[in-house]
Amino acid sequence: MRAAHPLARQLIARLPRGARVLEIGHGSGRNHRALEAAGLEVLHFDAALAPAEWAAAALSTHALLHGTPEEIATLLAGIACGIDGGAPLFATFGSQRDARFGEGTALGPATFAPTDGDERGVVHSYYDEAGLRSALQELFAIEELREVEVDAIAGGWAHASAPLRGAVHWFVVARRRFSRAE
Ligand SMILES: C[S@@+](CC[C@H](N)C(=O)[O-])C[C@H]1O[C@@H](n2cnc3c(N)ncnc32)[C@H](O)[C@@H]1O
Repeated sequence: MRAAHPLARQLIARLPRGARVLEIGHGSGRNHRALEAAGLEVLHFDAALAPAEWAAAALSTHALLHGTPEEIATLLAGIACGIDGGAPLFATFGSQRDARFGEGTALGPATFAPTDGDERGVVHSYYDEAGLRSALQELFAIEELREVEVDAIAGGWAHASAPLRGAVHWFVVARRRFSRAE
């Protein structure tokens, strides 16, 4: 069984037992299991949440690289609607230093779909630092932003037949703004 993602462990260290976490991109469930084992309640992002259900944090590892930048922006807006003001988001995003950047069918300046392999046809978007800051800044205040080589960290969910080589992701800790004017 694979270990929880480093950002999941960072989130666990920050939240009190019993807190509610919104997880986006469950995959094999490695993060879900670790969150529950730490006494956290896990919600999945498949329905709009009422304010009484808002979570104290959100977690998304190796999922917010799927889709176009517009789709990822829509997901980020949905996450912001599902967590409290001031709540942290722990998330990874594709980096333009990832070996897959520029490979496959180009669907936009930083969006590509592999033409073969396990992820054939799956749309991936990649950010440089300025682009990622821009994608987050309206709804989230960035606390930490770092680039990490993730071949040994990314889930095996989508890479069963060929292991990742040269995968690089942004690791982000950000805080949901209380208001857009903040
Ligand atoms: C590689 S898995 C990562 C799973 C888990 N968070 C982890 O780190 O082990 C990618 C996740 O993104 C989700 N996802 C969202 N949109 C997707 C898409 N268009 N193609 C593939 N996966 C997608 C999948 O359901 C899956 O849960």
